[in-house]
Amino acid sequence: MRNRPQLILGQTLAFDADPFRADPLEAATWRRRGGVVVGRDGDGPGDGAARILAVGEADALRRTWHDARVHDYGDALISAGFVDAHAHYPQTAIIASWGKQLIDWLNTYTFPEEMRFGNRAFAEATAERYLDLILSNGTTCAVSFCTIHPQSVEAIFSAAQARGMRLVAGKTCMDRNAPEGLRDTAKSAYDDSAALLRKWHGRGRLSYAITPRFSPTSTPEQLEALGALWAQHPDCLMQTHLGEQLPEIAWVRELFPDARDYLETYERFGLLGPGALFGHAIHLAARERARLKEADAALIHCPTSNTFIGSGLFDMAGLTAEGQRIGLATDTGGGSSFSMLRTMAAAYEIGQLRGHALHPAQLWWLATAGSARALRMADRIGNLATGLEADLVIIDLASTPAIAQRLARARTPWEALFATIMMGDDRAVRSVWVNGREYAQGIGRASSSTQ
Ligand code: GUN
Ligand code: ZN
Repeated sequence: MRNRPQLILGQTLAFDADPFRADPLEAATWRRRGGVVVGRDGDGPGDGAARILAVGEADALRRTWHDARVHDYGDALISAGFVDAHAHYPQTAIIASWGKQLIDWLNTYTFPEEMRFGNRAFAEATAERYLDLILSNGTTCAVSFCTIHPQSVEAIFSAAQARGMRLVAGKTCMDRNAPEGLRDTAKSAYDDSAALLRKWHGRGRLSYAITPRFSPTSTPEQLEALGALWAQHPDCLMQTHLGEQLPEIAWVRELFPDARDYLETYERFGLLGPGALFGHAIHLAARERARLKEADAALIHCPTSNTFIGSGLFDMAGLTAEGQRIGLATDTGGGSSFSMLRTMAAAYEIGQLRGHALHPAQLWWLATAGSARALRMADRIGNLATGLEADLVIIDLASTPAIAQRLARARTPWEALFATIMMGDDRAVRSVWVNGREYAQGIGRASSSTQ
């Protein structure tokens, strides 16, 4: 039995190509009066996901889908929901902590906060708050680190499941250079990760990522154990950090004196391959770049974090020209915002500091289809296309007086959208659709719903 489909009307933005490979102006279809039909057709692959049944011109869709329930958002923009490819939900409450660079920041703010996640109720409350914050910012899928505590993983998966969200998460593993109470062992990291993976991976819209925090906090034995686990479950993602700050890289060199570079500390333990997500990837040697490309791993750009923690300027132009697989992320709470709009703005600013202006189509693609591609989920999320899952964000292109007066001068849709990219925040998120349902809580104004 098919549920009644829903016809969502507004402007629509759908990508036809990667705007780093095609001309950005040719890479997307923008409809001034378009629509998206979403629903469950009952004979999908059985993962419980609602899908996009059609995308097109509003008038044609109204004729074809005359029995659909209509939600008309006027001239607001309908896009695929944002995909945040690297975040730490346990750092929600310490976002915007002052004055430290990476290693001091971890020791001063992050580790004491992560210690609290041994308490299940605390983990659950933070997970709920984090997901509501990102949804109110238009993010419908995130990839999150947890803490070393298995209950921190249970908390975020349970909260995502209750919201019908697609979410990737994993137990953060650390067996050295972390305080007492925040260390596991090679064996317990393997056992706990394996048990969580078996319980959650592929359950509904959830998937597990094997998660060594970074090589300074894992012994070679732990990296080896996690490499073995990944070899047993190659359809899982593997997430970690790489080349974020120069003192971090010097520390890796001390800890692994016989490794040629940082990447090799993962590579030698089987932690490099398709499905590997490397957060930051700013300071890379030529060999690392070549191996990342060869292995078809993904590099996750975290621009608000890189400026906030003082890490450096990601080489977007060079890395995209090489054909690297790149995603975009907030890196909450090293990153200073939950908003992928703010994150796109920071990516633009970092590009400018490196002498390269990213086109708005490239920024929007990175926050949606590009991140989905980095997660190897481009066939499921990140775009408006028939058959993809029904996760949408509805953007008010005139959400503040400052943006509205800039919009009045915009000559093209991209110019209009760029004002919201640079100046927008959660006030621009008029609504979010998760798994085919409008997620109303705390977001914008209601749509004008007819029929
Ligand atoms: N490197 C290792 N752990 C972290 C973390 O929590 N945040 C950031 N930004 N970098 C890291
Ligand atoms: Zn991180």
